[in-house]
Amino acid sequence: MRSVNKYAFLVTLIAFTILLSCKKEKIEVPPNEEHDYSGLSDIEKLGKKIFFDKGLSSPAGQSCASCHALGDGFTDPSHLPFSKGAISSLIGDRNAPSIAYMKYAPSLYFDNVDSTYVGGLFWDGRVNSLEAQAIKPMLNPIEMNNPNIATIVNKIKNAEYSDLFRSVFGNNVFNDTTTAINSLASAIAAYEKSDQVNPFTSKYDYYLKGKAVLSAQELRGLKLFNDTAKAKCANCHPSTNDNSFGLALFTDFTYDNIGVPHNPSSPNALPDLGLGKFLNDTANNGRFKVPTLRNVALTAPYFHNGYFKTLEDVVRFYSDRDSVGMFDPPEVLQHVNRDELGKLNLSEQDVQDIVAFLKTLSDGRR
Ligand code: HEC
Ligand code: HEC
Repeated sequence: MRSVNKYAFLVTLIAFTILLSCKKEKIEVPPNEEHDYSGLSDIEKLGKKIFFDKGLSSPAGQSCASCHALGDGFTDPSHLPFSKGAISSLIGDRNAPSIAYMKYAPSLYFDNVDSTYVGGLFWDGRVNSLEAQAIKPMLNPIEMNNPNIATIVNKIKNAEYSDLFRSVFGNNVFNDTTTAINSLASAIAAYEKSDQVNPFTSKYDYYLKGKAVLSAQELRGLKLFNDTAKAKCANCHPSTNDNSFGLALFTDFTYDNIGVPHNPSSPNALPDLGLGKFLNDTANNGRFKVPTLRNVALTAPYFHNGYFKTLEDVVRFYSDRDSVGMFDPPEVLQHVNRDELGKLNLSEQDVQDIVAFLKTLSDGRR
């Protein structure tokens, strides 16, 4: 009798412990599913519904999530270098970047101390806020292709979530088009700023909190990544919160020309001048924004033109770009950074170690 009791007690205790730890995990890992709205405020929930609404393109069929998908680090799930628009014969000329962690991007400014531009959205920093960005793809003929703002507002008015829209922004929100479209933009931005999009739940995040252990190979990769005399990655992709953002974002939002070759499948025959073209300033030709490396294992292909298909090839490029005959020449020859990359002399083992470390940056670890 006593031993049975003891056994029952033990089983209950174990079950209880498992239950407790599951509950804890659920709180730590925000959901990664389209129809899961847990933890979201009303405006964030509304923004998520809009972000996934395929009715908002002309013709219908394409949403923001069509090019910024859950499970693909908020990039194009087709993994094409250049995404197809709502009219599928039309394609863009840059690779779809992740929207995650972009809420931390400051507005574009020139940093006099480091003599570099910092911040902004898109590969060339041409838009300053998620709110200002949100409507552009809806009107872009090679993206969601709506003819005008009134068309978009009309679609929202008739959408499944129009009551939620009114309850968040007020019953009169549809009375004028400007109020309606600005409200739409702020709802999308609210979702993009929510914890579901910026969860900080990678193995590396848990490692920083002392809740996960990196393997020997991952640790070797991290060391190389941070080594300012070896791989130098953290020079531009900071891996600690020891920066002006106080967070490990794996981008310092600066601009560089790292010498990526022209992608022959680009619809543009002419070189993409990046920041230089936007600023109309040849001193910045060929420079593109440093992207975050969070979730990078999920977001192939890589760079502004999707030139490389694997992380191994990216790291080999950083190491051996300047070895004659190894890679095609840079698309833009001006301002190629030759101080921090191009001849790093990484061994194949170093390459594999760095890639192993990059794979610890994917969110959603339980
Ligand atoms: C057809 C594919 C496609 C669709 C649809 C699309 N995007 Fe994008 N998105 C892109 C591409 C490509 C870029 C990069 C363009 C550039 O840098 O010139 C981008 C860039 C962005 C950025 C900037 C990210 C960064 O790292 O700077 C945000 C934010 C964004 N999109 C949000 C949205 C929202 C919101 C929607 C829906 C209203 C949307 N996108 C629809 C392809 C798409
Ligand atoms: C001098 C600054 C700098 C250094 C150092 C640097 N990067 Fe980058 N990184 C960039 C810039 C700028 C881009 C975008 C370039 C482009 O698209 O033209 C980029 C893009 C990437 C991408 C592609 C991400 C995507 O979403 O397409 C990966 C992966 C990457 N870097 C990894 C690394 C690794 C690993 C190292 C170290 C071996 C490293 N970087 C060192 C500036 C840097």
